[in-house]
Amino acid sequence: MRIEGFRYTERLGAVLLRDVQKIIELDSGMDSDQEEEARGVYKINESIIHDIQKEMVIVIPTKNEKLKLFENCISGVPNACLKIIISNSDITPLNRFELEKETLQQFCDFTRRRAIIIHQKDPIISRALQEAGYTDILDEEGIVRDGKAEGMVIGILLTKFLGKKYIGFIDADNYFPGTVLEYARAYAAGFYLSKYEQCMVRILWRYKPKIHEQGLYFKRWGRVSEITNRCLNSLISFVSGFETDVIKTGNAGEHAMAISLAESIPYASGYAIEPQELLSLFEEYGDIPHLGNHRDGFKGIEILQIETRNPHLHENKGQEHINQMLLASLGAIYHSDVCCEETKNLILEELNRQGLLRLGEEPPRPKLIKAPKEIDFEAFANIVGENLDKYIVQ
Ligand code: GDD
Ligand code: MG
Repeated sequence: MRIEGFRYTERLGAVLLRDVQKIIELDSGMDSDQEEEARGVYKINESIIHDIQKEMVIVIPTKNEKLKLFENCISGVPNACLKIIISNSDITPLNRFELEKETLQQFCDFTRRRAIIIHQKDPIISRALQEAGYTDILDEEGIVRDGKAEGMVIGILLTKFLGKKYIGFIDADNYFPGTVLEYARAYAAGFYLSKYEQCMVRILWRYKPKIHEQGLYFKRWGRVSEITNRCLNSLISFVSGFETDVIKTGNAGEHAMAISLAESIPYASGYAIEPQELLSLFEEYGDIPHLGNHRDGFKGIEILQIETRNPHLHENKGQEHINQMLLASLGAIYHSDVCCEETKNLILEELNRQGLLRLGEEPPRPKLIKAPKEIDFEAFANIVGENLDKYIVQ
């Protein structure tokens, strides 16, 4: 694959924010092809992509998605990656989780590949988390709460348990399997290009097509993403004193991390997770004067943003869903210790304008989930190790 090199980097303490790099060519030919070296563009050989993907888990969080879309998604994950599906789908009245398992089983029969599928509320997983002291993702009954983030965190723990090096997330409600393939290739390209071990790759969709009266319209920015990005950029601008628009992937559901980084970040519940990942890094490593979080000799954390060639088409879940996501995302930014008054005002203005908050109200404070590395991992691993067979499909 061929991808643009680094163009511009914004730095917040030890956190390096790379501006968007576009994918130029999805397939750049054979490894052995001799060609003149291009300027400002990297050719990443298939063998390199494959080697990284062998070390990569793709976690697919899913909740009551159409089976056709779920099947699309699993069929697009590259062969070398291990798939882990974390489902929060209904068990009654229709056992949708069972249907997902069957679909995966058929896929594994055809491909002779192994995959893992777990229900988010599986009692054994909940017990393992209780034993490990990970109450942040449990409800009052000790069962894992609803929420996309809660499913993703289980995926991180399993990836660590399996000893894999990278974890990538891909949503299940995807109409085009080819985009899934592209995301996983972009993740590998990002890890290859990164200069630091602690690396995160966030995907920017090229377009998000919408149906208008005149036909298809290839929209560039999602409604929530545009506002989340503006607020995150405002937060960074006021910290550094220099206005920036470096963040273009504040809500990127499709993103990947080195597992060493994934296990060290505190998360936020539900749909606040993606902006919170950035905020947690700024809070911990951003060298923010009023937080006193300066770290001498700390190597650095790198965030790459990669723009795909394919447009992204997923389920339209309605205005209420969009509103909740916006409130959750801006709530995370608003309540971050890094957020200054100017950015808080911008958030309040935006939410008031949209009719999502009344004057004098504040957006919701996100439920935080401590970093996975802070739990008693051995206790988790012991229970999961004894039961892993139950979750493997082959
Ligand atoms: N395991 C699990 N548990 N998965 C869930 C849950 C849950 O409680 N809730 C939703 N999911 C799954 C969905 O089935 C889907 O595969 C994925 O998480 C994303 O959820 P959507 O409901 O489709 O969210 P979205 O498309 O509006 O937003 C996505 O894109 C945004 C960026 O535009 C999400 O990935 C957001 O987190 C992201 O910010
Ligand atoms: Mg979706």
